[in-house]
Amino acid sequence: MDSSKVKVVTCIAPVNIAVIKYWGKSDENLIIPINDSLSGTLSMDFMCAKTTIIASPELQENTFWLNGKEQSFNNKRLTNCLQEVKRLASKSLPHLNWKFSIKSENNFPTAAGLASSAAGYACLVSALAKLYEIEDNVSFIARMGSGSACRSMYGGWVLWCKGSSPDGRDSIAKQIAPASHWPEMRVLILVVNDERKKYSSTDAMKRSVETSELLKYRANQIVPKMTKACIEAIQKKDFEIFAEITMKESNSIHAICQDTYPPCVYLNDTSHTVANAVHAYNEFKSSNKVAYTYDAGPNAVLYLLDSSVDEFMSVINYLFPPQDTAEYYKGLPLSSNQLSQDLK
Ligand code: DP6
Repeated sequence: MDSSKVKVVTCIAPVNIAVIKYWGKSDENLIIPINDSLSGTLSMDFMCAKTTIIASPELQENTFWLNGKEQSFNNKRLTNCLQEVKRLASKSLPHLNWKFSIKSENNFPTAAGLASSAAGYACLVSALAKLYEIEDNVSFIARMGSGSACRSMYGGWVLWCKGSSPDGRDSIAKQIAPASHWPEMRVLILVVNDERKKYSSTDAMKRSVETSELLKYRANQIVPKMTKACIEAIQKKDFEIFAEITMKESNSIHAICQDTYPPCVYLNDTSHTVANAVHAYNEFKSSNKVAYTYDAGPNAVLYLLDSSVDEFMSVINYLFPPQDTAEYYKGLPLSSNQLSQDLK
């Protein structure tokens, strides 16, 4: 291939773990949420998505490979992202209409409730923005791929404001504090099960919007107060309050899942054992030292400070002797990067 007729970009993007969860859309097509959400972005050294795009006039068609398997381009979310990125791109770019090949990989289980779509779409949109030389904030475009992806566009602590504009232009993510603000913060991920989830979060949250009366109360009454209090706790580095909100918020989302009809149950006995161990440990220490949170899957994500990691790992190793522990990622720091890292 003639090197003047090829453009190659590679990006990596991290996973984020919500402490105030996004659950429910007011617009399914544009992916506008019914509530604000708040998350910590993990360091890219451990869990990330990597995307390479090769564009060339010599390619005959667009192709997309995810974890070694070819994906269809007949995908509304992908098409929406592509269309928005191209809308922002300069019309004079010579490669604007070249065909391209996208190759994406996650270095952790896909669709197992470990925020793979968040890292995946954040990475894809960052790579497309780089390909088309766009400097603007493109978190609203990542949101159109997968809602939670907009939060992976920033490091540290990130708030996704639901916004009020019908076209979703103000439904964007913004950093509320960099990782360096609370450098002692760690995340422990206990992989209880790395199979694909029973029901996708997309389908489950749609069903919750359609059938759960409690969801309206949560979105309108509970989340606004919790979000404000959690931002304050992060700003003050008050782990006691932060942990209580994080656990209550996770319990709230799984209560909504239970209130959904038919219910979507993500937690299993092991998830409950981990949550009980966290409460027992906090009681033993007479303060909150560890906080659990669960997304759309049974895997436990624990927020804790560096000073608690070793002792709490002993508790986990006692409860789940190493041969029974599938895998865990120990004490991951938050990411310090502003945006998905660009490998050039
Ligand atoms: C439980 O962002 O995967 O992880 O927008 O339909 O792609 P779609 O959903 P997705 O949902 C994530 C839900 C969650 C909570 C969260 O990360 O805020």
